Amino acid sequence: MKTSITNPSLVVALLLVLLLTVSVKSQLTSDFYDTTCPNLLQIVRREVRNAIKFEMRMAASLLRLHFHDCLVDGCDASVLLDNTDGEKFGFANNNSARGFEVLDGVKNAVERACSGVVSCADIIAISARDAVFLSGGPSWKVLLGRRDGRVSNQTTANSALTTPFETVDQLTAKFTAVGLNTTDLVSLSGAHTIGLAKCSSFSQRLFNFSGTGAPDRTLESEMLSDLQSQCPTNGDTEKTVAFDRNSVDLFDNHYFKNLVNGRGLLQTDQELFSATTTTSLVQSYSEDKNLFFNDFRNSMIKMGNISPLTGSQGEIRKNCRAIN
Ligand SMILES: *[C@@H]1O[C@H](CO)[C@@H](O)[C@H](O)[C@H]1NC(C)=O
Ligand SMILES: *[C@@H]1O[C@H](CO)[C@@H](O)[C@H](O)[C@H]1NC(C)=O
Ligand SMILES: *[C@@H]1O[C@H](CO)[C@@H](O)[C@H](O)[C@H]1NC(C)=O
Ligand SMILES: *[C@@H]1O[C@H](CO)[C@@H](O)[C@H](O)[C@H]1NC(C)=O
Repeated sequence: MKTSITNPSLVVALLLVLLLTVSVKSQLTSDFYDTTCPNLLQIVRREVRNAIKFEMRMAASLLRLHFHDCLVDGCDASVLLDNTDGEKFGFANNNSARGFEVLDGVKNAVERACSGVVSCADIIAISARDAVFLSGGPSWKVLLGRRDGRVSNQTTANSALTTPFETVDQLTAKFTAVGLNTTDLVSLSGAHTIGLAKCSSFSQRLFNFSGTGAPDRTLESEMLSDLQSQCPTNGDTEKTVAFDRNSVDLFDNHYFKNLVNGRGLLQTDQELFSATTTTSLVQSYSEDKNLFFNDFRNSMIKMGNISPLTGSQGEIRKNCRAIN
């Protein structure tokens, strides 16, 4: 009996399925450490939970570190390296990136269980997922198998990372450069549903915005006067304010409700509601938490997939702060 496999159209169809499977398959897999470090996920979860219990803001800090790692030369833990000419000391990180001690603790706990196996890049990715989940946000299967980079380039960080003072077009260009689109920009901005920002990151909106002699007119008046009193001219620029004053530690869709009500904190937050390319998505997320959670989950996985080092590239760092 001839098997159906000799049917030419079936062979073509099978080949096509095979090709498609190969081309969409990520190089990373969720079961990467299943045999080499079976308790990895529980260990990271425990460490992150303890850190957040100690300081709730740490959830936002860990999430931001993953973003700042991935946007610059891919998710390779280059942001953790201590060299003074590295990313850690670039504009967007110097005196604002946080969580390094927490990640040291996670790495140490992981090393005690399975030495020399798990990359710092994967530890950041799992920690960011846990930070979101433990704040009430969505969860997802983290893809793993990244290796750690041996280069941390401050110049690249300074041009690749976003600032709070850009237009949506500028933000979009930076996202596009790493394969992220407008949906990713809006959904990932929703990370500002948790955490705090320094006065210095939004005070330019409060008194004389863009040389107009007046505050940013898109900022709702009650919030404006509150921010003006918290962040006066020549005040303490290190002072921090909640991104989402409705629920500072809860990961929900209130960030988008705020934008619709003119209560975005950063210029780059509020612009998402006025720019033609992003308004409708902000509106949709403000009305539908599940839609936001679902898109956020997908965008986090996509972001975690930016140019990972795999196979024999890079290394598994012993200490996340230094190359081996
Ligand atoms: C980082 O901040 C420190 C302390 O404020 C400062 O001394 C140093 O010059 C900054 N580094 C860079 C590269 O800007
Ligand atoms: C850092 O990256 C820039 C381009 O972004 C490049 O010109 C420079 O040579 C790099 N520096 C190092 C030390 O690799
Ligand atoms: C962005 O990419 C995702 C797939 O990763 C896609 O579902 C979504 O429609 C895209 N958004 C835009 C605005 O192109
Ligand atoms: C606002 O800033 C502009 C440009 O920096 C300046 O010319 C103007 O005098 C300022 N207005 C006020 C009221 O401070």
